[in-house]
Amino acid sequence: MDAFFFLSVSVSVSPSSFSLLFLLFLTTFHVSIADPNKDTDTHFTSCAPFHCGNLTNISYPFWTDHLHRPSYCGFGDEGYELKCMPNQPPVLTLSSQEFQVLYLNASHGLLTIQRLDLTTCPGEISITSAFNYSETAENVTLLYGCRSTGLQSNQSFYCTRGGREEFPVLVKDEENECGEKVEIPVGAKAFDDLMNGFPAVNETLLEPFYMKYFAYEQYCEQCMDSGGRCGSNQSIPAAFACYCPDGPHQIHCHHVSGTLALLFFFFFYF
Ligand SMILES: *[C@@H]1O[C@H](CO)[C@@H](O)[C@H](O)[C@H]1NC(C)=O
Ligand SMILES: *[C@@H]1O[C@H](CO)[C@@H](O)[C@H](O)[C@H]1NC(C)=O
Ligand SMILES: *[C@@H]1O[C@H](CO)[C@@H](O)[C@H](O)[C@H]1NC(C)=O
Ligand SMILES: *[C@@H]1O[C@H](CO)[C@@H](O)[C@H](O)[C@H]1NC(C)=O
Ligand SMILES: *[C@@H]1O[C@H](CO)[C@@H](O)[C@H](O)[C@H]1NC(C)=O
Ligand SMILES: *[C@@H]1O[C@H](CO)[C@@H](O)[C@H](O)[C@H]1NC(C)=O
Ligand SMILES: *[C@@H]1O[C@H](CO)[C@@H](O)[C@H](O)[C@H]1NC(C)=O
Ligand SMILES: *[C@@H]1O[C@H](CO)[C@@H](O)[C@H](O)[C@H]1NC(C)=O
Repeated sequence: MDAFFFLSVSVSVSPSSFSLLFLLFLTTFHVSIADPNKDTDTHFTSCAPFHCGNLTNISYPFWTDHLHRPSYCGFGDEGYELKCMPNQPPVLTLSSQEFQVLYLNASHGLLTIQRLDLTTCPGEISITSAFNYSETAENVTLLYGCRSTGLQSNQSFYCTRGGREEFPVLVKDEENECGEKVEIPVGAKAFDDLMNGFPAVNETLLEPFYMKYFAYEQYCEQCMDSGGRCGSNQSIPAAFACYCPDGPHQIHCHHVSGTLALLFFFFFYF
């Protein structure tokens, strides 16, 4: 592509023998860099999109140990590691809680997740630089450790927390002051239904909801647009890396031929 572009430019500007030489140089150089049949870097091949459970075409920032996929293909945050099981949704861990991943909307960084069950009491999900609530998530407030007050209701359920059986109570207003208040994300629709009294809180907490995820999305876009695959730096897992057919780069694949060509073009013609 680059070479063709420069062919037309060179010829129209000055169809001299120098242009032809210049062009020959470009073409040779371009092909030697971009030839996909030359040995492709292993980082690039290892980080191809993967299937995990019943989801297909997953890539950075997600990764998994289960498919011999190196962690440098993902982003260092624990939340991005997926557990894959045949024909089941992948499972990820956020703030020490396991969630099924029902859907990934990679272009908008949206993750549809669902609690597996309530045997382990649901807890807060920490907002980090990697995960945040989506616009359609709301907090349900549960009170833990309030059993003695006799606040028994149909808006509760049994679960285990720190080895103790709990009977958390839904808080709709600020009146209840006993125990520990814990804010738990649920989908906005499920939240509205809950506030209207139906269904019960145990059902609401098992409804899917969206979380937002971030991982160098601007760098990753540049990397993919340049033909690379996103990943993290092997020596500094928190840093971004762009794995290209010709080897690792920091943010995007270098199109050496194009850059050099431009430099040469300006050098010789102006
Ligand atoms: C796979 O995902 C990438 C990036 O998320 C996207 O560009 C591509 O179109 C997807 N391919 C298929 C076959 O869905
Ligand atoms: C994966 O399985 C879950 C549970 O069976 C289902 O809700 C989800 O829609 C499935 N995802 C796909 C992409 O088939
Ligand atoms: C991704 O999410 C956006 C914003 O909610 C939505 O408009 C878009 O249709 C979704 N894309 C896919 C492929 O689900
Ligand atoms: C999380 O989202 C909220 C609301 O959209 C926003 O105010 C906040 O700055 C975000 N936090 C981070 C760490 O991105
Ligand atoms: C939900 O609660 C968390 C933890 O207390 C808080 O950081 C977050 O801002 C709340 N989000 C919403 C949408 O209310
Ligand atoms: C929720 O609790 C009610 C009793 O309050 C029970 O009948 C129902 O089966 C529970 N649902 C789930 C999903 O545990
Ligand atoms: C919970 O109990 C209240 C009153 O005791 C009742 O009005 C409400 O419908 C019940 N909610 C559910 C989900 O069973
Ligand atoms: C990884 O980080 C080191 C140290 O900063 C740097 O020298 C190297 O170029 C980086 N590698 C990639 C692929 O970005």
